[in-house]
Amino acid sequence: MTDTSANIVLGDKKVEMPVKKGTIGPDVIDIGALYKNTGAFTYDPGFTSTAACESKITYIDGDNGVLLHRGYPIEQLAEHGDFLETCYLLLYGDLPTAAQKKDFDHRVTHHTMVHEQMNKFFSGFRRDAHPMAVMVGTVGALSAFYHDSTDITDPHQRMVASLRMIAKMPTIAAMAYKYHIGQPFVYPQNDLDYSTNFLRMCFAVPCEEYKVNPVLARAMDRIFILHADHEQNASTSTVRLAGSSGANPFACIAAGIACLWGPAHGGANEAALNMLQEIGTVDKIPEYIARAKDKNDPFRLMGFGHRVYKNYDPRAKIMQKTTHEVLAELGHKDDPLLQVAMELEKIALTDPYFIEKKLYPNIDFYSGITLKAMGFPTTMFTVLFALARTVGWIAQWAEMIEDPQQRIGRPRQLYTGEPQRDYVPVSKR
Ligand code: SDX
Repeated sequence: MTDTSANIVLGDKKVEMPVKKGTIGPDVIDIGALYKNTGAFTYDPGFTSTAACESKITYIDGDNGVLLHRGYPIEQLAEHGDFLETCYLLLYGDLPTAAQKKDFDHRVTHHTMVHEQMNKFFSGFRRDAHPMAVMVGTVGALSAFYHDSTDITDPHQRMVASLRMIAKMPTIAAMAYKYHIGQPFVYPQNDLDYSTNFLRMCFAVPCEEYKVNPVLARAMDRIFILHADHEQNASTSTVRLAGSSGANPFACIAAGIACLWGPAHGGANEAALNMLQEIGTVDKIPEYIARAKDKNDPFRLMGFGHRVYKNYDPRAKIMQKTTHEVLAELGHKDDPLLQVAMELEKIALTDPYFIEKKLYPNIDFYSGITLKAMGFPTTMFTVLFALARTVGWIAQWAEMIEDPQQRIGRPRQLYTGEPQRDYVPVSKR
C-alpha cells in the first residue's frame, strides 16, 4: 500500500520517494530509485533503520515486547499449541484444522529418518568437534542426498524440501549429540510426537528401555515454539540472501546455521550459561555488572540486550516460567545457576546503565539453565536453537522465493579505499 511520500534533497536534486504502509508497525520509504535519481546510496551498516523485505510471517513490537506469528501472540501459541502446529502456521499462514494437523504431523513424522549413508558422514569429524560445526557440515550435505527436492522453481519440491528440513533436523541434531558423546545413533520412532521423539533420540541407549518424561517433552516443545521464527534477524537474513541467488534450500539453511552460531546471536545461550557458571555465586555479580558497563572491557552480559526489543523479550518471560517448571520436575529448584540468574536479572533491571540503554533479558538468558538441567551439554544449546529456527528460516525462504519482486540481494558500499593508482614494479618499491 503506497500512501504518502518522502522528499529527499541532495545538493541541487530533490527526489520524492513513495512511502509504503504495513498492516501494523513502521512505514517504509521505498528508496529503490534513489541511486538512479541522485547518484547516492543510503548507508546503514547493521541495518538499524532498513527493511530488507516485505513479509507476512512475524511481527515484533520491540518497544512493547510484542511477538506475533501470523498475527497470533507467542504467549498464546506457547500456552495452547505444540511446535508442529506453529510450524504449520508459519509455513501456510493459518492454524491447521484437526484434519490438517493430523496430516501434517503424519507427513513430518514420515520424513524423520535420514539417508543411511549420512551415518558415515559423521565419522569424518573428530568426536570433540563442536556440534554446531557438525550441523553446518551435515545439513549442507543434505543437498548431496536429496537431489529430488533441490529445484527451487518447483513448488512441490520446495514443499518436500521444507518438510524434510523440519523433520530431519531433530534426527541430525540427536546424531550430532550422540556422535559427540561416543554413543550409538538412535533411530526416530513414528509412534512418538516430535519433541518426545527428539529427546528419546538424544538420551536413549540400546541397553535398556527409555521413557521420556512428559513434563520435559512439553518443555522441549515449548522451547522449540519460542525459537521458531523472529522476523529478519541475522541468520534469517543470511538464509534470504543465500536463497536470493537460487541456492538450494539445504545450502541456505546451512548458511543460517553458520550465522546463528555467533555469540551475539544464537550462540548467546551457550555464552550466557558459561557466563553464569563463571560468575558462580551471587556475591560475584556486582563485579560482572561493573565489567559489562566498562567501555574498555569487551565483556557483555550474555543473554541481555536486543536490537529490536527495548522492553522485556516476551519469549524470555515464558522461558523463565519453563525453567522453573523443569527445575521443579527434576528436583533442582534450588539450582545455584538459577539463583545467580534471578539475582543478576534483578540487579541489572534496577541499574541506571541497563535502564537507560533499555537492556532486558532476552530468550537466551534462561534457556541455557533449562537445557543444562534437561541433560544437554552447553555445546548443544545453539544446535537446539537451530533445530527450532529451521521452520522460520524455511518459511521466510519460501516467502522470498514466491515473491514476484524477488531479485538477487546485492548491497553496495561507501568506498574509502585508495583512488586509482598505477602498478609499481617490485624493484621500485
Ligand atoms: C538473539 O535479532 C534477533 O531477533 C535475534 C534473536 C532471534 O530470535 O533471532 O532474538 C536471538 O540473537 C538474541 C540476542 C542474543 N545475544 C546476546 O545476548 C549477546 C549480548 N547482547 C549484545 O551483544 C547486544 O545486546 C545485541 C547483539 C543483542 C544487540 O546489539 P545492538 O543492537 O547492536 O546494540 P549495541 O551493541 O549497539 O548496544 C547498544 C548499547 C551499547 O552501548 P553504547 O555503545 O551505546 O554505549 O548497549 C550496550 C552496548 O555496549 N549493550 C550492552 C549489552 N548489550 C548492549 N552492555 C552490556 N551488556 C550487554 N549485553
